[in-house]
Amino acid sequence: MKKEFISTSATATAEIGQRLGQAISKKTVVAFKGGLGAGKTCFTSGLAKGLGYNGDVTSPTFALINEYFGGRLPIYHFDMYRISDEDELYSIGFYDYYDQEAVIVAEWSENIEAALDGNHITVEIEGMGDNPRKITVTALDDNIIKEL
Ligand SMILES: Nc1ncnc2c1ncn2[C@@H]1O[C@H](COP(=O)(O)OP(=O)(O)OP(=O)(O)O)[C@@H](O)[C@H]1O
Ligand SMILES: [Mg+2]
Repeated sequence: MKKEFISTSATATAEIGQRLGQAISKKTVVAFKGGLGAGKTCFTSGLAKGLGYNGDVTSPTFALINEYFGGRLPIYHFDMYRISDEDELYSIGFYDYYDQEAVIVAEWSENIEAALDGNHITVEIEGMGDNPRKITVTALDDNIIKEL
């Protein structure tokens, strides 16, 4: 099942992320698709808030992974922009995080499609700059979509 949104501001994008965060209650992978500056990190800041995390969310561009603790589940926020194969995923410890009872958020999930089992939530953001964004959230679990 999927649901589409149009967002005309960074705040609105974060609010959609927050609703998704509120709907998540167990181990989940959130896989982003969308180009540079689409709003993936912005959406993730709302998602973390919806999971009850009160701190800052920043781009994991340099660290490759940011970890946010204190919400209902740990959040592991990855930037897969520079990841090109499973060996690299392995070496950044992705599978150790993947095994945990946590929320994995992956920006540039296009680069790790082979490693995903299909049971993840996809958030596709189309648009950039000051243009409105079309945000499509797809999940196998209908309850997640109904709560958005
Ligand atoms: N409707 C909108 N939704 C989200 N961001 C928007 C919107 N309109 C403008 N923006 C701006 O677009 C930028 C999105 O940046 P953000 O870091 O979230 O993107 P990103 O997809 O994570 O980029 P990167 O690919 O570099 O990781 C921000 O500067 C934000 O203010
Ligand atoms: Mg980002």
